[in-house]
Amino acid sequence: MSQQKILYVVEKHGPFEVRTGPVPTPGAGEVLLKVQAAALNPADWKIVEYVVFEKYPMILGADAAGVVEEVGEGVTNLRKGDRVLTNGLYGEYEHSAFQQYMLGYANVTAKIPDNLSFEEAATIPVGLATAAVGLFYHGAESGSAGLYPPWETDGRGKYTGEAIFIVGGASSVGQYVIQLAKLAGFSPIITTASPHNAVSLEGLGATHVLDRNLSEDVLIEKIRDITSAPVKVVFDAISLPETQEFAYRVLAPGGTLVIDLEAQVKSTTADKRIIYIIGNTSMAANRKLGASLYSKLTSLLEEGAVKPNRVEVLPNGLRGVADGLQRVKKGVSNVKLVALPQETV
Ligand SMILES: NC(=O)c1ccc[n+]([C@@H]2O[C@H](COP(=O)([O-])OP(=O)(O)OC[C@H]3O[C@@H](n4cnc5c(N)ncnc54)[C@H](OP(=O)(O)O)[C@@H]3O)[C@@H](O)[C@H]2O)c1
Repeated sequence: MSQQKILYVVEKHGPFEVRTGPVPTPGAGEVLLKVQAAALNPADWKIVEYVVFEKYPMILGADAAGVVEEVGEGVTNLRKGDRVLTNGLYGEYEHSAFQQYMLGYANVTAKIPDNLSFEEAATIPVGLATAAVGLFYHGAESGSAGLYPPWETDGRGKYTGEAIFIVGGASSVGQYVIQLAKLAGFSPIITTASPHNAVSLEGLGATHVLDRNLSEDVLIEKIRDITSAPVKVVFDAISLPETQEFAYRVLAPGGTLVIDLEAQVKSTTADKRIIYIIGNTSMAANRKLGASLYSKLTSLLEEGAVKPNRVEVLPNGLRGVADGLQRVKKGVSNVKLVALPQETV
């Protein structure tokens, strides 16, 4: 097999078009994946609308699950036939997920345990990477909240009794922040969401789910009622200008606010750090943390310590992605849209 179906962004700002293109060959340290499921992210539509790449047609897709078809030189942790998940890379088209075959870096590609489907596994890489890169120390230039990772030796429960506040717990990113915070021992884990998502977020480890429609002052009062401890870690998974301002208000002096869109806080003080991170475990800057996380990811998934997002499968294989991205742009609630590239006709 040397040809495959690829969802291209034909030129800057679109349109999308499915065309035939080459199947990439894995180099040293890489694997070739037959992509069974690719999840959609807000970045996919934002890049089409706002970012111009050097080379077109281009390929998007950062969340992939599939089967290893071929391993490159030096790969020892994976074999042909393994079910795996990995983070696709924007700007590196052979490493992008909206195609039937893609490359993954073997040290940041993990086996999917039997308790997870490809569709569920595809909801994990971007959200989990964003949570992990933002919270845990890894020496990348962006910095992080600088915490010790719970998947490393003696990491579980290290932050017992410390409070964390997460804006947007029902977002894909927010759900992984809740779960990693729980593993790290944080308590209370306070988050904002629509009330209909409260039970599901409590199931992931949130101790208090506050209605995101309440006024900022009421939310701050409620947080104070929940804990008298200083909230030194705040993760704004939504990172709109207004949520950043609010998150910064909640943050205690000496603490860190992690954001996943560019910083918008107007008036800052020297005693509160803001860290903007790019959540991708395949990019070079995050690969060290990624390799450490991915070496433990299969067992974390197997034991249910990390659970996937809720899935909705899109129709029409790769041809369903464009409409799916319009839905993501309008706003989805507590669900990840997933395309099945092999079903592309
Ligand atoms: N820097 C990076 O590398 C990186 C990586 C991933 C994502 N991001 C960015 O992070 C943001 C979240 O991405 P995602 O994929 O996690 O989003 P998502 O799953 O599509 O987010 C949808 C959820 O956002 C929640 N939400 C929306 N506005 C909210 C608000 N004002 N307060 C609280 N919750 C709110 C909704 O909660 P309810 O349903 O409860 O109302 C909804 O469930 C996006 O802007 C994305 O571009 C950045």
